[in-house]
Amino acid sequence: MIPTQTLARFIHAQEKQVPQSTGELSDLLTSIALGVKIIARLVQTAGFKGLQGYTGRVNVQGEKTHLLDEEADQVLMELLGSSGHFGLLVSEERDSVVAAKEGRRDAKYVVAFDPLDGSSNIGTNIPVGTIFTIFRKVDPDKEAQHDDFLQKGRSIVAAGYSIYGAKVSFVYSCGAGVHGFTLDPDVGEFVLTEEKIVIPDKGKIYSVNEGYYPIWDEPTIKFIESIKKEDEERGTPYSGRYVGSLVSDFDRTIRKGGIFLHPANKKRERGKLRLLYECMPLAFIAEQAGGRAVDGTCDILDIKPQNIHERCPFIAGGKYEIDWFMRVMAETRG
Ligand code: AHG
Ligand code: MN
Ligand code: MN
Repeated sequence: MIPTQTLARFIHAQEKQVPQSTGELSDLLTSIALGVKIIARLVQTAGFKGLQGYTGRVNVQGEKTHLLDEEADQVLMELLGSSGHFGLLVSEERDSVVAAKEGRRDAKYVVAFDPLDGSSNIGTNIPVGTIFTIFRKVDPDKEAQHDDFLQKGRSIVAAGYSIYGAKVSFVYSCGAGVHGFTLDPDVGEFVLTEEKIVIPDKGKIYSVNEGYYPIWDEPTIKFIESIKKEDEERGTPYSGRYVGSLVSDFDRTIRKGGIFLHPANKKRERGKLRLLYECMPLAFIAEQAGGRAVDGTCDILDIKPQNIHERCPFIAGGKYEIDWFMRVMAETRG
């Protein structure tokens, strides 16, 4: 079968449906897809290219960084910083915003990314990935500013993620549904595999790291206990699945349905995941796929970031499960 519906063709066809489009968005998405292909090769060959170890440094998150984290960061900084489309860039691996090499003044967009998500799984064959969020500058006539990253997720222009697994997948949305692509390694092109990914309204899988049970707050414990209880009417108990790579657990959730939780706990009131380049882009995808993503109090896309590395509790899934989780939160908190 000839792979005709490539990512580039699909994006151009989407652009044509938007009268005032300039083709810029398609060019920058193509730049991101190129970065994903390069990172995929790095991940696949890291084992024999000595790239699976640590750098010996600690990043702004206070986490030991892997060589692959920094390699992936470098690829995206080079590619996206020279694309001319982004005035400023934010990376999980960099303390502060980075000015693009080209286009600082007149570029329309800014981009934030998690260059390598799921790093704790590096060295195993468990899939890892990349996550990105794109905003338009708040003031198009000004140079890109730090505050261009502190917009609510409702202003996201495009967001998506890739997964470096048995297949290399690329999932994105520009606000008109969620589209899935698979890399055809023979031709090096991403080929459309799901034109519209829609999350099942009700699923059968819950995904959480139960190791945090002792430090969860009462509403979270109550919800997890109820999803594991025998209840024919509600269709519980659900099955438990947890990979420990957000991109993998989230991708399974939007395709199979159910709920993913990385909730707050007594040691981390605002959870572990980062709002700007993990929670917001995936919340955008979840809503575009017909689901929801909350922090336990409100929808993630209604949160205005206060700083580029702030953390946020992240609970995402089908409307049935998220509405149920929010009811338990409200009832238990009183
Ligand atoms: P990153 O590798 O970018 O730091 O992200 C790791 C995240 C995410 O991928 C995953 O869902 C979560 O860490 C797993 O956290 P726990 O080990 O606390 O379950
Ligand atoms: Mn991550
Ligand atoms: Mn990361």
